[in-house]
Amino acid sequence: MSTRTVYLETFGCQMNELDSELVAGQLRTLGYRFVQSASDANVVLYNTCSVREHAEQKVWSRLGELKDRKLTDPNLIVGVLGCMAERDGTDLIKRMPVVDVLVGPAELDKLPGLLDNALRTRESLQAEPLVDINTNKPVMISANQVALQGSASRRSATLAAAGDSLELLDLSRSISPLDDDGPVSRSAYVRITRGCNKFCTYCVVPFTRGAEVHRPPDHIIDECKKLADAGAIEITLLGQTVNHYRFEHGAAVTIDGLTQPQKGRSFTGGHRRDPLAGANVTTFADLLRRIHDEVPAIKRLRFVTSYPRDFGDDVLEVIRHHPRICRYLHVPAQSGSDRLLKLMNRGYTVAEYLEFLDRTREYLDQPEIGRPLMLSGDFITGFPTETDEDFNLTKQFLVRCRYKNAFIFKYSPRPGTIAFDKLADDIPEHTKRARNNELLALQNQIADDISREQIGRTFDVLVEGLSRQTLKKQGKTSGDLRKAGQVTITIGGRNLAPDDRNDQSNQNDQPAACSTTATSVLEVPANNTAEKLQLACRTDGDLIVFIDHPAATANSLIGQILKARITTANMLSLQGELVEEVLKK
Ligand code: SAH
Ligand code: SF4
Ligand code: F3S
Repeated sequence: MSTRTVYLETFGCQMNELDSELVAGQLRTLGYRFVQSASDANVVLYNTCSVREHAEQKVWSRLGELKDRKLTDPNLIVGVLGCMAERDGTDLIKRMPVVDVLVGPAELDKLPGLLDNALRTRESLQAEPLVDINTNKPVMISANQVALQGSASRRSATLAAAGDSLELLDLSRSISPLDDDGPVSRSAYVRITRGCNKFCTYCVVPFTRGAEVHRPPDHIIDECKKLADAGAIEITLLGQTVNHYRFEHGAAVTIDGLTQPQKGRSFTGGHRRDPLAGANVTTFADLLRRIHDEVPAIKRLRFVTSYPRDFGDDVLEVIRHHPRICRYLHVPAQSGSDRLLKLMNRGYTVAEYLEFLDRTREYLDQPEIGRPLMLSGDFITGFPTETDEDFNLTKQFLVRCRYKNAFIFKYSPRPGTIAFDKLADDIPEHTKRARNNELLALQNQIADDISREQIGRTFDVLVEGLSRQTLKKQGKTSGDLRKAGQVTITIGGRNLAPDDRNDQSNQNDQPAACSTTATSVLEVPANNTAEKLQLACRTDGDLIVFIDHPAATANSLIGQILKARITTANMLSLQGELVEEVLKK
């Protein structure tokens, strides 16, 4: 059997990054070797995103690039995973016969079996490319095309099978402090909720990820403990509406030793406490408290993405009183116009959002103890029917919110969504773009002001790695930034597509080995010990701080939490100096 080499590239959100990590872990245990370039791999996998058209176009062009190779290389297996596989389904295979395996997010645990099948089929076929006897041209072999989408696009929360197999994927996580790839990352993602029930009218996620299902708290805590034992000190909990987490213990039924997803009961309590909280329910506040108290080795606990309507005071109290929970909230608003919020089906008004914001700041904004609250948000420009007046309201709203950063996207009509069916995409591209730029310019001013306010303050910072600037100086390319065997994340975090994202706003100088991608840090040997290297660090409020440090000891600081004073500020990044080089125990 030939060596099974895999190239895995990930597009889209953190949920996809985690899925890729889990899939890679499974494949690695089965003996697959990961490589840095598609041309070196006999299995090429794309874990895809459908949230905007541009994210999909990237994948189409990647697949197009593989066409010629597929004609001449009968051993190549191409797999499309994730949200595009779910949304486009078999149409994708029809349009792109180069694809052998198509696996939606709900079926990822089956990927190893499908790949094995596809590879064996290939291996049993002749090693030479097939040639059409009439034209003498190579023929594309579709050995074993398989498509696995979710058992139903809207998996019912009571559909045990779908939920269970998903749970198995998370439970399969291989966590070892002695990973072949080097030191285990200090930062990791842990999923707490899958799917989404909100149905914002523009959004494809409820269709690609299915119904909202909450993972059992004990599974979550076990995973956090294992990650901590393996060396993680920062965990980011993931969910599309993460603060909507709510697990009803009584509703969990065990079938064949597997936990059945609970029936989804929604808590949309505004500032109220969950009325049913108690012995049978683990609320989001309970979960945060449990992780904080039961896994003390986790020095930073984060969560994304929050939904404005679901923030009860109970959650804010837990954050305030549990020091290792970060003072950072990502709470997308999407628009500052009530009319548009309604058309988007966001379920809150501007006044309600602002009430939430004021309440949150009251609880959590404590600059006097070095813990200012940092907020970030998302906006869509050019949503159908958006008038100048709507847009002006959004600008005023943005100023009022004072986010440390905002992700601003041009509206992209997505087939299958309610807005696509009911609302004409009537805002011209140039208007979408102009509004996008205008909002970004405004946000940059705000970010700059917030940065300046930090000068002179002292923060605990997690040293995430060497800055890109340092690595570039050392002649390192982005390919070097990830060790062999790691997942390639082309468009990390929320920066989904270069064309429709806002480069300045979203692309600050991210640390080389971006901490939130659960990869190992890259340590670069210093050539010259007198030289200073730039370390990229992060505050618990998610502010990036650069620190110049002598090369001789810079590497040894990576992965530690240290105290730093901010000396200068520039837009989204700060420059600082270490005040105490002691790892916080
Ligand atoms: N669950 C998260 C968002 C997930 S999608 C939440 O509700 O906050 C990430 C972001 O992509 C959204 O916040 C929205 O700003 C943007 N987005 C989603 N669908 C979009 C579309 N069709 N066009 C443009 N932007 C979109
Ligand atoms: Fe999409 Fe809305 Fe769900 Fe976020 S809350 S994933 S924007 S449907
Ligand atoms: Fe994209 Fe799917 Fe995430 S559509 S944003 S990868 S949930």
